[in-house]
Amino acid sequence: MNLKHQTLGELIIENQKNSNYSSGELSKLLNGIGLAAKLVNHEVNKAGLVDILGGVGEYNVQGEAQQKLDLMANNTFIDTLTKREIVCGIASEEEESFININSLDLKNKNKYVLLIDPLDGSSNIDVNVSVGTIFSIYKRVTKIGTPVEIEDFLQEGNKQIAAGYIIYGSSTMLVLTTGQGVNGFTLNPAIGTFYLSHPNMRQPENGEIYSINEGNSAFFSKGLNEYLDFCKQPLDNKPAYKARYVGSLVADFHRNLIKGGIYLYPQTKIDLKGKLRLLYECNPIAFLAKQAGGEETDGKQSVLDIKPKKLHERVPFFTGSSNMVNKLKSFLKEEE
Ligand code: AHG
Ligand code: MN
Ligand code: MN
Ligand code: MN
Repeated sequence: MNLKHQTLGELIIENQKNSNYSSGELSKLLNGIGLAAKLVNHEVNKAGLVDILGGVGEYNVQGEAQQKLDLMANNTFIDTLTKREIVCGIASEEEESFININSLDLKNKNKYVLLIDPLDGSSNIDVNVSVGTIFSIYKRVTKIGTPVEIEDFLQEGNKQIAAGYIIYGSSTMLVLTTGQGVNGFTLNPAIGTFYLSHPNMRQPENGEIYSINEGNSAFFSKGLNEYLDFCKQPLDNKPAYKARYVGSLVADFHRNLIKGGIYLYPQTKIDLKGKLRLLYECNPIAFLAKQAGGEETDGKQSVLDIKPKKLHERVPFFTGSSNMVNKLKSFLKEEE
């Protein structure tokens, strides 16, 4: 079959045949995520026409003002996956604690937990700029059939079974890894099907883009500011790098994955752990980056090796083209 005509559903079935995770449960879960993504996509596309822009007047556990679309996306993913009984637990950026699906249904024998950033890039919702969803899947470590526990969620990123994101952009794409490379699927909105449009995505080793909220530079470390000066040094009388920053991790990462580049969200003198959430943002993106031949670090080690201590833990995060991340590391090492 021409690869371009292969659908997400077909690829999931094919992977199921070749992988260790062949119970069909992971396939059902990935299909469930695809379905929820289509529902969220539909709502995101209507934003502006119906009353779903703006805040709800509540703050989430992160201390951020919740947007109506944050809650809509959160509820859509949770409802879709809970009703289909394809996970045993869910943790979300928008929920204070994890959701135990087993306590609702003692017959639930599922083994996967889902961690999710339902709507990434909330600040871009009202201005029609790309937003996304990021997800991460682990096998539970406690006994199947019992209620999930916090340790089912606090696993190192290198234990992820699958991870991906959906970008609601000029077109809607789902980018997925199950540990066998990275595949990108584009939604044909007319028929509601994700088609494999970007098979075996590879991040270029080098790039010309750096993506960072440089407005915070007064609070960055010396080594990081020296690296940013290096990014701005002309090469052969031309600018070496381009600055590109959307402010949606999904959109910034996606662009750099395809074109080559580096994304940086460092710690600052104010936010000593940075801003991004280890479990919902950094780990899934790091897994995808590594699977596409890219690199990632918290400045000292792979974020995938960090043993999480709490659900909403934050870490500094740098990811992108391998040579660019290695260059950054040499600047950060010098200041140690
Ligand atoms: P979220 O909308 O899920 O809370 O995530 C926002 C994150 C991330 O998407 C983005 O890269 C970063 O916040 C932007 O932060 P700044 O506005 O501080 O640059
Ligand atoms: Mn948020
Ligand atoms: Mn986010
Ligand atoms: Mn979010």
